[in-house]
Amino acid sequence: MCGIIGYVGRRPATPILIEGLRRLEYRGYDSTGIALVKRGNIAVTKSAGRLSVMEQMADMKAPQTTGIGHTRWATHGAPTDVNAHPHLDSTGRIAVIHNGQFDNDRALRTYLERQGIKCKSETDTEVLAQLINKFYQGDLEQAVRQALSEVSGAYAIAVVCSEEPDVVVAARKGGPLLIGVGKGEHLVASDPAAVLAHTSQVVYMSDGEMARITSDHVSMTTLDAIPVTREVEEVEWSLDEIELGGYEHFMLKEIMEQPGALENCLRGRIHAKDGSVHLGGLVDCTRELTRAKRFILTGCGTAWHAALVGEYLFEELIRTPTETEYASELRYRNPVIDDGTVVIAVSQSGETADTLAALVEAKSRGALTLGVVNAVGSSIARETDAGVFLHVGPEIGVASTKAFTAQVAVLAMMACYLGRRKHLSPSSAMQFIASLARIPQQVSEILGNADEARAVAQKYIEFENWLYLGRGYNYPVALEGALKLKEISYIHAEGLPAAEMKHGPIALIHEGMPVVVIATAGTQYDRILNNIAQVRARGGSVIAIATEGDREIARMAEHVLYVPDTIESLQPLLTVIPLQLIAYHAAVLRGCNVDKPRNLAKSVTVE
Ligand code: G6P
Repeated sequence: MCGIIGYVGRRPATPILIEGLRRLEYRGYDSTGIALVKRGNIAVTKSAGRLSVMEQMADMKAPQTTGIGHTRWATHGAPTDVNAHPHLDSTGRIAVIHNGQFDNDRALRTYLERQGIKCKSETDTEVLAQLINKFYQGDLEQAVRQALSEVSGAYAIAVVCSEEPDVVVAARKGGPLLIGVGKGEHLVASDPAAVLAHTSQVVYMSDGEMARITSDHVSMTTLDAIPVTREVEEVEWSLDEIELGGYEHFMLKEIMEQPGALENCLRGRIHAKDGSVHLGGLVDCTRELTRAKRFILTGCGTAWHAALVGEYLFEELIRTPTETEYASELRYRNPVIDDGTVVIAVSQSGETADTLAALVEAKSRGALTLGVVNAVGSSIARETDAGVFLHVGPEIGVASTKAFTAQVAVLAMMACYLGRRKHLSPSSAMQFIASLARIPQQVSEILGNADEARAVAQKYIEFENWLYLGRGYNYPVALEGALKLKEISYIHAEGLPAAEMKHGPIALIHEGMPVVVIATAGTQYDRILNNIAQVRARGGSVIAIATEGDREIARMAEHVLYVPDTIESLQPLLTVIPLQLIAYHAAVLRGCNVDKPRNLAKSVTVE
């Protein structure tokens, strides 16, 4: 949600900023801009629309070696040229880019107006630029510190000043920010992807910290000016992982990557020989976890769907009460959480504002907190007491795919790890782990038949409403399939526990309406066949996801997409794959921008 890049060094800044913005575009893409600094002047180029629009206007040969750049996901004010970042103060000597939102910007705006300072844009960011200028007395860092003491809300910012052309000041409170450490140059960015082409050495800033960055030096302090020291860390991702690598879209690349991603996620952690699981991140708190009275799994969007699969897995394998909560609800309820509760935050980015806030709330009530996170160094990864990383490499497509399967795989490993310390027998664990070990190969088999999903998408592309039905472990998959379709193709889709259909949504079914039913072998099979019959009786067209070898289903459904057989509790890892493919192809066939769907952002760092 908004991307930030800054550069200070010896090379011309423009190409570096533009390249960084290209890597960050998935964080928000309704307007972009850059500000280049030289003594006595700040040159701003900005525009509504995609990066390519602004890029045409930018002078790639501009000599300035200090600058900041921003790609926006609008919160305060529509995505217009004026509201695009960077924002200058009225004198034009301060430029600010900002990710997040200030809560008291209206009061500050009125205060500034009373002093005769009028803002040009509707953004809260410009208010900050004006404040910094007001406090500026020859020390940018000090002016930023003073201005930030006046604002409340969440932010990650980068600021430059024409009177200190070799300095970028950065600060964070509630939004991600890191410093890339190069040779004779530094970068500041909201995401490692933006600096990776220049350096893999980064310093992750913590909440409530500021940095004064020059080409040769970085000094870090808290917002209250107490010096802090942070380690330089190595980013594990390679440049290849953030390239399209011949694919048309990141989403397709990430769908196709899933066998390898799952291998990486499981590697060294599961042992099929004896059914054991080794999770280094949980070793120190295993005793506490086995004694937990209750688990609460929380997250947003796709991560919440993975958490819901986790709830089923935890209850079955660990036999400890488990609930799944939307983080946005958990943070504002008055939940019963005590030191017997373990709260597990599931998040690809590790930066989702609601998930982070729910976690902080749970921690303050005495819960042990764990993270199931992909982005190492992210806020959630650092805030939690312990956790397990996904290790699937960067996910760039806004619609989450490989993170979902890895989140489910991690939760499955956690369930087995803790289950074995409670009620799970060695033979059940062995069967479970042997099945889990086969999943990457089975995903690969499904991907080998990807054309069938395309044919289904093609046949029903004109329909504006789809239903997705599942039971048991496949109910969260129905929700996820529907979310994928609506996110990127803008087709309305609803996911339901199949039995709920008759309590209302069945009224929607009309002749030919596509109804995707996950009807794999298992305890729910006969019941789901009844649901299929109910859909058929109302004229709906059934697209079944079924277990290989099931011929009966072919007589009842218009289309069958087969997945290999596995134990019921691991089926979501397979049944979601054809649904990801259907959504992808539907979006492509409709001419939608798959990786940058309208109104969405990859990492939602505001409420
Ligand atoms: C956004 C993304 C979704 C994602 C959700 C949670 O809405 O568009 O794809 O599932 O945030 O993100 P997280 O990074 O916490 O998993």
